[in-house]
Amino acid sequence: MTNPFYITGIIPETYFCDREKETQQLVSIIENRAHILLTSARRMGKTQLVYHVYKQPAIKDTFRTFYVDLYPTTSLHEMVLFLSKEIYSTLIPKGKKALKFFLSTIKSLTGSFGYDPVTGTPSFDVKLGDIHDPKLTLQEIFSYLEKADKPCIFAIDEFQQIANYPEKNVEALLRSYIQPMNNCLFIFAGSNRHILENMFNSAARPFYNSTEQFHLERIPKEIYTGFAMQKINDAGRSITPEAAGLAYDLFEGHTYYVHHILHNAFANIDPQKAIDVKDILDTLDDLLDARERSFSSTMNKLNFKQKETLIAIAKEGKAVGVTSVAFVKKHALRSASSVQYAVSTLLEDQLLTYEDEGRRKIYSVADRFLGYWIKKNY
Ligand SMILES: Nc1ncnc2c1ncn2[C@@H]1O[C@H](COP(=O)(O)OP(=O)(O)O)[C@@H](O)[C@H]1O
Ligand SMILES: [Mg+2]
Repeated sequence: MTNPFYITGIIPETYFCDREKETQQLVSIIENRAHILLTSARRMGKTQLVYHVYKQPAIKDTFRTFYVDLYPTTSLHEMVLFLSKEIYSTLIPKGKKALKFFLSTIKSLTGSFGYDPVTGTPSFDVKLGDIHDPKLTLQEIFSYLEKADKPCIFAIDEFQQIANYPEKNVEALLRSYIQPMNNCLFIFAGSNRHILENMFNSAARPFYNSTEQFHLERIPKEIYTGFAMQKINDAGRSITPEAAGLAYDLFEGHTYYVHHILHNAFANIDPQKAIDVKDILDTLDDLLDARERSFSSTMNKLNFKQKETLIAIAKEGKAVGVTSVAFVKKHALRSASSVQYAVSTLLEDQLLTYEDEGRRKIYSVADRFLGYWIKKNY
């Protein structure tokens, strides 16, 4: 029996939950030919939403669609490699003509292609070291997109990564290539709202005012729990409304975490019985136990100040005024300044995250499972 709660890969349409309004809005921005900045907390569902948008008839029938995740990249070389690999692999099933045209456009890499002697199809075996002039190759990639036989959409996920590349002015370089383009729309996506909004909202930055901005929120509770109960029923099984509600509430509807708990409950609970509240709590416990080693090693890498601050924030769940006397005292921390240092380094390492509430910042542990694990163990 297929588990209806997908926690990896692209979700088949039947198992994709909601996002109807968001999909409609994004399709309409694309139809109006605007670039998009798509932000949300990590693991809220940006990537899945982009793929879902790509499957809409209005998009699928008109555009060539591409998607790349820059999260693992740390240099312009890698970005160029990822972009060209994505175009190559998207074009393979579209036929030789499209592929040949692409390969003939990126001349700077031509020497690195081979042809499969049996099928005659080109094989793309470009290595980082083959990219001698990433700026030139990048220009060729964009020039391909501009000349492609159909209009294109290129989603660049975790776009904030480019801010860490060692090459200077990558932002300005990209903007100068993208600005004059008519045939390709870009979806810049990412989880670091702060860095991204700075990039796109400050008048001094190259990408200023270049996109329509879209912030993805959680799926509403009624819709999510309705979806969960329906899918479990479709599989000939059941879950109590309270249990479905708890799976949502434990993680405030944060998609990846809710989905993970439901996935594991579906996989591990006796199929003969209805999944109830206790099953959800047991499933969470098991999941935290299974992550014991990895979470311990995360904690191991922290110094004392970072650790005590992370623990204090985990215990609060949502922490406000972390540098206030009251907070420092309540959690027996060293001092406001040590908390400040710890918070900034934990944010950098993406162990903490925050939301703005007016002028206050509300901090929480970024990985909600780690948050529960710390609460349980410290
Ligand atoms: N609309 C959805 N329907 C079902 N599951 C979803 C949906 N959106 C997200 N998920 C779940 O959350 C996980 C993380 O989603 P993802 O799109 O990778 O988040 P992000 O790109 O924002 O980090 C997915 O692997 C899937 O398990
Ligand atoms: Mg993503």
